[in-house]
Amino acid sequence: MSFMSSSKEEKNTHRDDDDDDDHRQRERRRRHQRDDDGVFVKEIAPNVFMPRVAFGTYKLKGEGCSTAVARALECGYEHIDTASIYKNETDIGDALNEWMKTGERKMPFVASKIAPAEMHSQLLVEQAVSKILGRLRLRTIDLIMLHWPGVSKVSPDSEIHKEKRKNAYRGLEKCLKEGKIRAIGVSNYHVRHLEELLTYCEIPPSVNQIEAHPMWPQEELIDFCENKGITVVKYSPFGGGGAPLLDDEFVSSQEREVADVTDDDEQAWKPSQILLAWSLLRGGRKNRDNNTTLCGAVVVKASSKERMLENYKVLEKDFSNSKYLSRALKVWDSVKTRKKFAWDSDCVT
Ligand SMILES: NC(=O)c1ccc[n+]([C@@H]2O[C@H](COP(=O)([O-])OP(=O)(O)OC[C@H]3O[C@@H](n4cnc5c(N)ncnc54)[C@H](OP(=O)(O)O)[C@@H]3O)[C@@H](O)[C@H]2O)c1
Repeated sequence: MSFMSSSKEEKNTHRDDDDDDDHRQRERRRRHQRDDDGVFVKEIAPNVFMPRVAFGTYKLKGEGCSTAVARALECGYEHIDTASIYKNETDIGDALNEWMKTGERKMPFVASKIAPAEMHSQLLVEQAVSKILGRLRLRTIDLIMLHWPGVSKVSPDSEIHKEKRKNAYRGLEKCLKEGKIRAIGVSNYHVRHLEELLTYCEIPPSVNQIEAHPMWPQEELIDFCENKGITVVKYSPFGGGGAPLLDDEFVSSQEREVADVTDDDEQAWKPSQILLAWSLLRGGRKNRDNNTTLCGAVVVKASSKERMLENYKVLEKDFSNSKYLSRALKVWDSVKTRKKFAWDSDCVT
């Protein structure tokens, strides 16, 4: 991805050609790949490395959004998640512009999404991609997804969605071939939506961004994605706004369950970090018990710098040698309540 600076002077300080994009990807791999399993980054498409913990920006707007993104970048986040419908890409563009004014800084991985209202035709998608790039002030973007398997203002059970999302995906493929996007994907796609997409796509989706947490583990869908080489990006790891999965009473009942495990590192784990570790370690069914290899990525949103840091620091944890973590994950795995907090695309034909 390259950055379009807002002034001549800034332009001189920024890397903004294809060689520099390659340099940025190589550098990201060097700095964050702790071992061959790609601990901190996942290669989602040839030479496109996605950092595994993303900063989510849903509901952030205006100056508050720019400030939050600036804080997140200072905390170390290297992946910013936005969407056309969040109406905050201009604010994120401002934060990125400021961030890049200081010489040694690296441009983060940026992901955005095409809104259901922009999916009515291939041309609309191509125009939407250009608008996203314009708002973010980027020349190319790392990842764009179709936000939803259906279009706006059409009944969810209408067959029209099939043709519309096919044409919309063609628009993404075209923009990828033109070099405007480095990787393309979908969001909120169920198995049947993906099966259909895989019958006609020329370039398979690199990611499927979906809601997933212990109350909505989506094992079957994740199994399917893993088998097809589609990276799963989990959103709402705490259950979304208000973080219901971090509700005091709920967490303390979970903690009572693991209280019998005495381990030196017990104090080192915050409940938020246990849930983020769950997101990073739990894949489909085959990737459950005692798995210590990271899979996919997680998008998490927080307002204060303390919470941003607490969440981001999950990457500094030892995932393989913590008895406390392993017990805590099993307790979360045993949760029987099933609850989806975000919108549900299961109704879309
Ligand atoms: N593709 C899609 O359809 C879709 C749908 C939903 C979300 N997403 C993406 O995923 C991102 C994350 O999901 P989300 O925003 O729904 O929810 P989330 O990340 O699960 O939770 C956010 C909530 O958790 C709180 N929180 C954050 N860190 C905390 C901590 N360490 N301790 C206690 N509370 C904490 C936040 O409070 P404060 O803000 O007050 O700190 C906020 O209320 C979104 O921002 C968006 O980028 C995508």
